[in-house]
Amino acid sequence: MSDRIDSLSDYFKRYEESIADPEQFWEKIAKQFHWQKPWDTVLDWDFEGPNITWFKNAKLNLTENIFEKQRFADENKIAILWEPNDPQEDSRKISYKELFERTGQFANAMLEQGVEKGDRVIIYMPMVPEAAIAMLACARIGAVHSVVFAGFSATALADRINDCSAKMVLTSDGNFRGAKKIPVKEVVDEALKHTTTISKVIVYQRTGQAVTMEAGRDVWWHDAIAGVPSENTPESMDAEDLLFILYTSGSTGKPKGVAHTTAGYMLYTYYTFRNVFQYESDDVYWCTADVGWITGHSYIVYGPLLAGATTLMFEGVPTYPDAGRFWDIIDKYKVNQFYTAPTAIRALQACGLEPLEGHSLDSIKVIGSVGEPINEEAWHWYHHHIGKGRCPLVDTWWQTETGGIMISPLAGITPNKPAHASLPLPGIQPVIVDAEGVELKGNNVEGNLCIRFPWPGMIRTTYGDHERCKNTYFSTYPGMYFTGDGVKRDHDGYLRILGRVDDVINVSGHRMGTAEVENAINEHPNVIESAVVGYPHDIKGQGIYAFAICDSKGLTDAALIAGIKDTVRDIIGPIAKPDQVQIVSGLPKTRSGKIMRRILRKVASKDISNMGDTSTLLNPEVVDEIIKGAGIQ
Ligand code: PRX
Repeated sequence: MSDRIDSLSDYFKRYEESIADPEQFWEKIAKQFHWQKPWDTVLDWDFEGPNITWFKNAKLNLTENIFEKQRFADENKIAILWEPNDPQEDSRKISYKELFERTGQFANAMLEQGVEKGDRVIIYMPMVPEAAIAMLACARIGAVHSVVFAGFSATALADRINDCSAKMVLTSDGNFRGAKKIPVKEVVDEALKHTTTISKVIVYQRTGQAVTMEAGRDVWWHDAIAGVPSENTPESMDAEDLLFILYTSGSTGKPKGVAHTTAGYMLYTYYTFRNVFQYESDDVYWCTADVGWITGHSYIVYGPLLAGATTLMFEGVPTYPDAGRFWDIIDKYKVNQFYTAPTAIRALQACGLEPLEGHSLDSIKVIGSVGEPINEEAWHWYHHHIGKGRCPLVDTWWQTETGGIMISPLAGITPNKPAHASLPLPGIQPVIVDAEGVELKGNNVEGNLCIRFPWPGMIRTTYGDHERCKNTYFSTYPGMYFTGDGVKRDHDGYLRILGRVDDVINVSGHRMGTAEVENAINEHPNVIESAVVGYPHDIKGQGIYAFAICDSKGLTDAALIAGIKDTVRDIIGPIAKPDQVQIVSGLPKTRSGKIMRRILRKVASKDISNMGDTSTLLNPEVVDEIIKGAGIQ
């Protein structure tokens, strides 16, 4: 049986099979991989624990399925095409053979530096092939990687290192991003002042800028691999051994470490990559995400490489040196599948059509969207101007926790409906529930999105705190995984994702917990209390709006606002910096002291119609003040 779905009727047939007998369905796919030892059972599960075991007691190494046992690519095929930030710099082409050698060599280098199976390794690197090599080398030796987006601050990095007691950091001297040169190693040095578990830091030389190397701790990447052989025996991993941890924001507290395991994630990213994008053997596939996010893990590195694809990695940003950069790259490499985020589409749409001039974009067969709801205007612009009206657009809904794409059209197979993620992939059983958890069956319904049955790529735990995993995802609606998203099933049975229903905001496709931003704001010495909400933003999808009560101590509002923005940037990183800060004398609260965020959301979105009854508030007078302060009245 081929893994490839090739028509709509084939999709429906396989979907039915996957629901009728999920174990048989996934077992057939699993059998095409190389296992050092087969499984005892395909699936053991309960969502109460939750306890999820796919392919119990099976042994494998994921990288063997990319290299030694690769079924799709010959060794000379290009695995990674790399385009640098600066178009004048040389690009790189890395074949499967070379990637195998470099992975083995770096795996050996990490072993020499003292990493053992099960150790946690932080990857805080720019978008260079070495970031992918680092991930694969970890998988090779059974170390658990945790990639941290290189835009996060020293505090955020230290928090993640401490949460997983990491042993090693892989980083670079600096990072080119557009016209900027970012001092990456400096951030690591600062973070390590607040950690105790790191014994080695391996530093990849990217920008050549001066850095401090601490003797005994810091090693240059080129020194670490010098003279190291590439032959490496892959570690034998249990199917449920951790492959990686990726930190993501939720509605409460600090970011949590979403934990993914080896076999299920391998199968799921491979299967979804092949089917959603309909990748064919000579295609060039490009996902514009950063490896610091789950999209980069699943659809730049693991999914494409397991499918023997040529995956393009781009170091830079869409607008450098100009707003035509994406289109230049597509034409340069004759990209066939192009996968990006709505925020990038809207930003490029705002640049007008001129940057598209002189580009053919003829090579593109499939365009994709991920990370946030795509508004209809952006969908049509993307479909018309980039897909030239002839390319299927796959609006892929999924999450860090799901490991891979869950609801999406299959390119060229599922009829396209603007702004609809459409239909679940085989094996995925979505359920729409109301606030009480009652299932809303049939079409034309709207509610909260849950999943009722396990899939191989799903989260297994939140690292070091299983209760938190249970409480966040499996307790709201017992017996189901709760996604945190709202959804609508239309009259055709197609699903449309409506966005988060919890206190998570989605800024340019990045997840931000309002509590996390508030905690950062409260670190500002003049801030007494704060509340953060999302509001509609033309480019970012959602912007961050902060209300803060301050003891000004003589500072002007402008100085307080600037200070608050800087504090958030320093504590979390530039991506969390509030777009708007309003200094207020009070926050609307219920009599039990709870902040009425609904009111703040209305003010932030400058829509004060239907404010509802505010007379029951503890302090109704602040509402008018806040409205005035926002410049609405
Ligand atoms: O709200 C959904 C939104 O992004 C959230 C997941 O964020 P993260 O874990 O960072 O993963 C992003 C990349 C997979 C979801 O809960 N989201 C993601 N894709 C879509 C989406 N919302 C609407 N449509 C999508 N295609």
